[in-house]
Amino acid sequence: MSNARDYLFKVPFRQYSIPNWEVNKKKILDTLPINSYTDFYENKKHGLPQYINVIGSVIDEAMLDFKDTYPPGVMITSMWYERSKKGDYHGPHNHGATGFSAILYVEYSGSDHEPTKFHAPFLDAATGENMKYQPVVREGDLLVFPSYILHEAPINNSDIDRTIVSFNIMGEDAAKAWKDGFVNAKK
Ligand SMILES: [Fe+2]
Repeated sequence: MSNARDYLFKVPFRQYSIPNWEVNKKKILDTLPINSYTDFYENKKHGLPQYINVIGSVIDEAMLDFKDTYPPGVMITSMWYERSKKGDYHGPHNHGATGFSAILYVEYSGSDHEPTKFHAPFLDAATGENMKYQPVVREGDLLVFPSYILHEAPINNSDIDRTIVSFNIMGEDAAKAWKDGFVNAKK
């Protein structure tokens, strides 16, 4: 008889706290061209936004740490913001199956907002229930998780805006293939 207890599979997840946050927050808000709920569709058409340079410098240390866990080397392939006003929410969705995704909490109140809700990619074996996970998040945190994981932004019930910057990360090979497809799709 074996007494081994282990998991067959685990879902990788990283949570970073960006240092020097008040200064970095100001830098980010000064550069984000916020004029709507999101620039996702605009950026999908035109490619990476200008503000990737500022975001890149702010998340540099975290990405260096993350890179160690992703052998082929990584690239950010898309980036967008979402500003949720009262009543706004983003229902369950995923970002595809080709790498990792990240969420940076730029304007976030722990007492007024709810963190992102993640859904497990498998059911609870005993109950068959859909398992969910909500990390404790503080403003300035950066979460990194597999792009295929279903997640949602719960409704903003407060008068305080909630702003995040999200992006997708791919291995260099996958990114090249994706970019070729992107360029061809634009032709
Ligand atoms: Fe998302």
